[in-house]
Amino acid sequence: MMLRFLTLFALIFCISVTESHKIKSARHDVRNFPEGFLFGTATASYQVEGAWDVDGKAPNIWDHMTHNDPCLIKDCSNGDIADNSYYLYKRDVEMMRELGIKFYRFSLSWPRILPTSFPDEINEAGVQYYNNLIDELLKYNIEPMITLYHWDLPQKLQELGGWTNPFIVDWFGDYARIAYRLFGDRVKYWMTINEPYQVCYQGYGDVTKAPRLNMKGIAEYMCGKNLLMAHARAYHIYDDEFRSSQNGVVFIAYSAQWYEPESENEIQAAEECNQFMWAFYVHPIFSETGDYPPIVKERVAAKSAEQGFARSRLIEFTPEEVDYVRDTADIFGLNHYSTNFVYRNDSVNGYYESPSFYDDMGVIMYQTDEYKIGESDFTKSIPWGFYKLLTKIREDYNNPTVFICENGFATHGGLNDDDRVQNMRTYLSAMLDAIEEGSDVRAYAFWSLMDNFEWMQGYIERFGLYEVDYEDPERTRTPRKSAFVYKEIVKTHSLDFHYEPTDTVMTIDEL
Ligand code: NOJ
Repeated sequence: MMLRFLTLFALIFCISVTESHKIKSARHDVRNFPEGFLFGTATASYQVEGAWDVDGKAPNIWDHMTHNDPCLIKDCSNGDIADNSYYLYKRDVEMMRELGIKFYRFSLSWPRILPTSFPDEINEAGVQYYNNLIDELLKYNIEPMITLYHWDLPQKLQELGGWTNPFIVDWFGDYARIAYRLFGDRVKYWMTINEPYQVCYQGYGDVTKAPRLNMKGIAEYMCGKNLLMAHARAYHIYDDEFRSSQNGVVFIAYSAQWYEPESENEIQAAEECNQFMWAFYVHPIFSETGDYPPIVKERVAAKSAEQGFARSRLIEFTPEEVDYVRDTADIFGLNHYSTNFVYRNDSVNGYYESPSFYDDMGVIMYQTDEYKIGESDFTKSIPWGFYKLLTKIREDYNNPTVFICENGFATHGGLNDDDRVQNMRTYLSAMLDAIEEGSDVRAYAFWSLMDNFEWMQGYIERFGLYEVDYEDPERTRTPRKSAFVYKEIVKTHSLDFHYEPTDTVMTIDEL
């Protein structure tokens, strides 16, 4: 009797969750992933390595910022030790073996490899650390995927203007060449830059990432052009000097959330929002014409003229530069977490500081608690937005091969993370919906392997499959329920909404 009641309750619960999240795909209980589909996990250097001043590493902009003004970070913490992966990388790889994953996305710390920022001095100890990590991964058939730049710019380069200085195109190219030369015999997947919008808007147009320049409507556009040119430089260097001998791929990891019209009247507003928020960096590389999206060029030029600027604040590409940047990615790298709703009415006039990127875009966006699962406000769970985004990428850019370089969910800690499990399953299912309709998605990296330094949120927002104990000098890592669920997904190459893990201890399955 009790069992029947529980089953009925579970059924009603599943139906209501399905309804409220509009999961088209929950019609299937078990869904298979395409043959050859790759599962992995992701981290980034400053978020996990620690060892901030060890063995010759020079400071980066996050070292600088967190040391000078500690409580800019919500819990007044920093990445000095973080997960201590500089020393604990073997345990990290052991966790990947427990999960059975096929690849690991991690990033290189530029000032750990090049302490002067330039190729005149190569820090052997830093190189050794990455060699050790790569070799440990390969020993267990885990493919290394490297991000060259995941936000930890050498502080010295920041003092020269960072991403607003056009010379960064040369500096980044020189650094990329060294990395290909040092590691490219074993590393075949290269992401140049992680999340251009976050680097440029949040770091230069706002105060929500280092270096917090906050020069709205000006600096984010300077950064945007230099970043795209620097990416293209790193791509061309690989193409010209390494591709024939190393046979790898080079791409860029975009952050793209989905922007949904609040009503039918807002379709145009939402479309423009998608163009500003992510197509800004995609169109120059993936469209047939190249260059920024036309609507972005028009709106920024018109606003700039109205405001009395002598030229558009959007630094435009010359025709040669358009060609240089177009078609410089072998794969579409996508980081996706959530969806926002969008509208535009008269209230937008004066809503944002002017000039600014948001004022140029001229739409209002919001999220509601309807989609909140769990205790964190950080990652509202709206899986159908992932499906819509993947569909738009397929339709607008001629169905590129997509790697999901990040997808995940924030909690405030605890091993029993049913909310993360629900989010993971429904997002994977939404991804499968898009694949069934033709999207060429071939890989999925869960963010993150383990809890880590979540930028301005410090260690408050937790993204890990493994919980990290920051009170413990050993930084002990313990698998959460989501780790056991992810392991089952990887092992069975399928998604079973009803699977309940019974293990509490992780083991390594022999292959
Ligand atoms: C985006 C970033 O690439 C990563 O560093 C961050 O921790 C996650 N998403 C979660 O916010």
